[in-house]
Amino acid sequence: MGHFNIAVDGPAGAGKSTIARMVAKKLGFVYVDTGAMYRTMALHFIRLGIGPGDEEAIARACRDVDVTICYEDGAQQVMLNGENVSGLIRTEEVGSMASATSVYAPVRKKLVELQQELAKKADVIMDGRDIGTCVLPDAPAKIYLTASVEVRAGRRFKELAEKGVECSLKEIEEDIRERDYRDMNREHSPLKQAEDAVMLDSSAMTIDQVVDAIIRIACERGLEVGA
Ligand code: DC
Repeated sequence: MGHFNIAVDGPAGAGKSTIARMVAKKLGFVYVDTGAMYRTMALHFIRLGIGPGDEEAIARACRDVDVTICYEDGAQQVMLNGENVSGLIRTEEVGSMASATSVYAPVRKKLVELQQELAKKADVIMDGRDIGTCVLPDAPAKIYLTASVEVRAGRRFKELAEKGVECSLKEIEEDIRERDYRDMNREHSPLKQAEDAVMLDSSAMTIDQVVDAIIRIACERGLEVGA
C-alpha cells in the first residue's frame, strides 16, 4: 500500500511549520520540515567558512556531508555528520545562508533524494518551497499556504518581541520581500504554486481554521480518517 502524502509550500513566514506540525499530530502523520534540512546544509557551509557565492566549494562540500533526520518525542531532529544541530539552525544568519545556498543544484539534489525516501516510508506532511512541484509531484493533497507580506512581518515582529528581541517592523518586511524574491526567482525549483495545489491565504484566518481547511482538502483528495 502506498502512503498518503500532503505537500505544503509557501513563502517564509506563512505559518507552514506550525500548521503542518498540528495537522500531523491530528492525523497521526509524520511531519517533515525540509527548510530545516537546507538550514543544516547552510550551517555546514558556514562552519567551513564558505561564502554564499562560492558555488564550486559548495558543490564540493555537498559530496561528503551527511544530513539525516530522526524523531525524538515526535519532533524532527536534524543530524549533521552525526551531530544533532537542531538547536543551532534557527538564527537569521543560518536562515539567510539557507536561502542563498538553496539555489544550487547539488544542494537541492542531495536533500530532495532524502525527502523522497522519507515520503516512501510513511504518511507524511512535508513543508517547503518545491514539495508539490518537484519533491512529491504525485502527492494527492497539495496546499499553497500564503499570507500578505504585512501580515507575515507582523507575526514575525510579535514573535521576536515576545522573545525580548528588539527589531524594526520595516526591516522585517524588507527581509521578507527580499527572501520571497530570491525563493521565487531562482533557476532551480523556484517557489511556485503547483497546478493542482489549493491556495490558502491565512492573512485573515486563525491557525485552527487553516488546520481544519487542510484536513478537509486531504479528505476531499481521498484521505480516509477514523475509518
Ligand atoms: O522554511 P525555512 O525558512 O526554514 O527555509 C529556509 C530556506 O531554505 C528558504 O529561504 C528557502 C530554502 N528552502 C528551499 O529552497 N526548499 C525547501 N523545500 C525548503 C526550504
